[in-house]
Amino acid sequence: MRVLFVTSEAAPLVKTGGLADVSGALPSALRRLGDDVRVLIPGYPQVLKALGTFKIEAFVAAAEGFPDFRLLTSEFSEGVPLWVIDCPLLYQREGGIYQDSMGDDWSDNALRFGLLSKVAAMLGSPSSPVEWKPEVVHCNDWQAGLTPAYMHFVPDSAPCVMTVHNLAFQGVFPPQTVEELALPEGSFHPHGAEYYGNLSFLKAGLYYARHVTTVSPTYAEEIQSEELGFGLQGLLKNRSKSLTGILNGIDTEEWDPATDQALAQTYSLVKMTGKAANKLALQKLMGLTVDPAVPLLGLVSRFTHQKGVDLVLEVAPELIATKAQLVLLGSGDAVLQNQAKALAKEYPGQIAVMIGFDEKLSHLIEAGIDLFLMPSRFEPCGLNQMYSQRYGTPPIVHATGGLVDSVVDCTPDTLAKLSATGFVFSEMTAQGLLACIQRALVVYQDKKSWGKLLSAGMSKDFGWQASAMKYHEIYEAALSTKE
Ligand code: ADP
Ligand code: GLC
Repeated sequence: MRVLFVTSEAAPLVKTGGLADVSGALPSALRRLGDDVRVLIPGYPQVLKALGTFKIEAFVAAAEGFPDFRLLTSEFSEGVPLWVIDCPLLYQREGGIYQDSMGDDWSDNALRFGLLSKVAAMLGSPSSPVEWKPEVVHCNDWQAGLTPAYMHFVPDSAPCVMTVHNLAFQGVFPPQTVEELALPEGSFHPHGAEYYGNLSFLKAGLYYARHVTTVSPTYAEEIQSEELGFGLQGLLKNRSKSLTGILNGIDTEEWDPATDQALAQTYSLVKMTGKAANKLALQKLMGLTVDPAVPLLGLVSRFTHQKGVDLVLEVAPELIATKAQLVLLGSGDAVLQNQAKALAKEYPGQIAVMIGFDEKLSHLIEAGIDLFLMPSRFEPCGLNQMYSQRYGTPPIVHATGGLVDSVVDCTPDTLAKLSATGFVFSEMTAQGLLACIQRALVVYQDKKSWGKLLSAGMSKDFGWQASAMKYHEIYEAALSTKE
């Protein structure tokens, strides 16, 4: 199966969140199953720099409404072929990939990701200037949402699969964008890309794709409800027969405590001693009081409302009162960042905060802490709860989305069955989180139970293979269903 995988970020080239992890790992997993998957990504400076050398595909093209660009080819992780859209006017700039250095969205994001969508549509159409033709185009998140809309109006184009990684981000732009991006007029319709008078990239994708997937079975149900449908629940309910939840996997080579170069000492289920060395190294590095006995809790996250970071900050003083320590790594909302920094100042040696994005530190935190905090209000899938289970660090999670599908709550029953891997709470309040932490700390004191919990989490198979097979089946289904 020839598949074009369209994404706005892919690890290790460029990453702001879990979409990059998925784009870095799923294409290789599919290739291992025999599918010819190629990735299409914008040519941000990070991407061009990381690739170093590339081949210029034989054309410099102009698509109606867009600046000229070149299509470059290269390879990334495990030899996955990569297509890069080199359009300096849109992508060569300092700052983030979605936002400027002040944290404001780039004012031309519609054009920047309109071009990504448009190039994918060109490559998937019969008149593509490139010899290699995909049988299926796999679009990820709103940034690739217009691809199915462009392709719907070009006869004999390949079918699209649209994957939603987070329904909270929809790419909504004013109506004149339709003309600027030369979108077929017929698509600007409530039964199409129009969303209350504006253009919605994500809605376009959800409406025109042959099949829609999201990143966990529970989230696939949740987005059909008013509470988590972000206004698109009606459309998603209508599409429920072609809507599938496939749980993300993780890159088990990148995230392996037995070989991880970012750790102070590697370890595995049969030789756990190294984990303690990571705790000491982390305590030292972050200026926490070095003490192997004190429970150390941590979080690595975007600082946003979605992730429930506010609740962690709220319970922090009570947590510290129980003699636990806390380490936080993340960035985002300025108010949350300032509150976190203030707490670190108030509780030196007990709370440590690092504002920023630090891949290496995130690995050391997963290894060095005892419990991982992930009280997300909603979570399409979430990856850190899986990384932490693999690192012998039980996660404490809110019962939502992919967290429900990947963590087994510790109860006397699940502990006895050796299936418990973490702690799940339902009441999304500071009290609910605190009660769950307290429950976890009781188990932490009981060495035998703790050992069972770690062992169940560390032996779980979070690899991509099973999920990659499900994506392959979706591609097959998309190919065989008629519009
Ligand atoms: P989301 O994509 O919603 O942010 P996920 O749990 O799916 O959430 O993925 C987040 C990814 O980004 C994980 O790999 C996580 O380790 C990483 N990450 C988030 N914040 C940071 C940070 N400040 N430093 C390093 N890695 C981070
Ligand atoms: C999104 C979601 C996260 C998911 C990731 C990768 O960023 O917020 O839950 O794990 O995409 O699919």
